[in-house]
Amino acid sequence: MAVQLDASALMWYAPLAVLVVGVAFWALTRRPKMHIPSLKGKHVVITGGSSGIGLCIARQCAAEGAFLTLMARTTSKLEDAKSQIVSSLNVPPDSIALKSVDVSNAEAISAAITESFAWRPIDVLICSAGILEANFIDDAKPSKLEEIARINILGVMFPIQAVIPLMKRRCKEHPSSIVIIGSLSSSIFLYGSNMYTPSKYALKGLAELLKFELLPFNIGVTMSCPAFTQTPMLEEVEKEATAFIQLGERIYLGAKRECPEQVARLTIDAFKRNVFFVSTNLTGMLVRVTGRGFLPAESFSTFLLELILVVPLRILTYLWLLNAKHVLLTSEVPSLKKTQPTSSLAQKPVNS
Ligand SMILES: NC(=O)c1ccc[n+]([C@@H]2O[C@H](COP(=O)([O-])OP(=O)(O)OC[C@H]3O[C@@H](n4cnc5c(N)ncnc54)[C@H](OP(=O)(O)O)[C@@H]3O)[C@@H](O)[C@H]2O)c1
Repeated sequence: MAVQLDASALMWYAPLAVLVVGVAFWALTRRPKMHIPSLKGKHVVITGGSSGIGLCIARQCAAEGAFLTLMARTTSKLEDAKSQIVSSLNVPPDSIALKSVDVSNAEAISAAITESFAWRPIDVLICSAGILEANFIDDAKPSKLEEIARINILGVMFPIQAVIPLMKRRCKEHPSSIVIIGSLSSSIFLYGSNMYTPSKYALKGLAELLKFELLPFNIGVTMSCPAFTQTPMLEEVEKEATAFIQLGERIYLGAKRECPEQVARLTIDAFKRNVFFVSTNLTGMLVRVTGRGFLPAESFSTFLLELILVVPLRILTYLWLLNAKHVLLTSEVPSLKKTQPTSSLAQKPVNS
């Protein structure tokens, strides 16, 4: 009797096991369809395209034959960025347009996006413009908190709001993409970053909302979340707030600097494949899996992998937090070497 039961169970379980293995194999080996297979002839608009991550993305898109519009406030930095790209890649100067604009000014950025679209229909919008100040919440000036919130949140929302109706007009025949440069601190606090951490968390909410609002259209949404990346932004903070950085390195267990070229490569690869979430290092993967919530998985194989990893990674975050608490409770509280000047939007010239 027992033997008969085993045999009938086998009859059911064997095909099921074959099916599961088959689906897993298909998911792991399937090559996802490219959303934007090539950037040749595409128009890529990059806010914050004059420096750091935005500039590296611009250079790599130009190398693939894309037309570019770089947007930032400082004209001289935009011009330098353009001549760097033109001379290093030998691309025609008229394939790169520049717009000096403040992303946190709704009217100005909306006009800049409309003008850019009139030059060439926009295929990809990359929102990389952002600012950071190292300081404690209670030491930061209210005007600075407001400036960071305006640039890092509304300065991403405004260009996106302006480009969506334009992209929708042609999205059936022309797949397009919106890319938000968030940060590792979209999922984990960046110690001593006052408004920066909340602003980057807000971008995660924006990206998730956008992903689902644009689902019926042929418009992809990608959120790229780099860790510490060697750019002028980080160099500035390293100069101004060495003690914060040193403590941060102990909290984040070393916090190796990422190369902006590598961040750019991963980001471009992700939006071309319409991958939603990009993390650029192991910690990024850890926070992505443990904090996934309702964020869509990049692929079915990623989903399967995350199912296996979620418990061990949750244990790792617990150990990580024990270390962070130990560091914070046993270290001297850092202070800024010098008081940073209050910079308000009114004080920052748009053209300098
Ligand atoms: N570096 C890192 O460690 C790191 C890590 C994770 C995420 N990120 C994110 O990556 C993005 C780029 O940072 P980055 O390190 O490449 O910084 P960056 O080298 O300082 O570049 C910032 C760019 O944004 C522009 N910008 C700033 N405020 C603007 C405004 N109000 N309107 C228009 N443009 C503005 C800057 O030009 P102007 O000043 O001339 O306007 C510059 O082109 C930011 O969103 C940042 O939060 C950076």
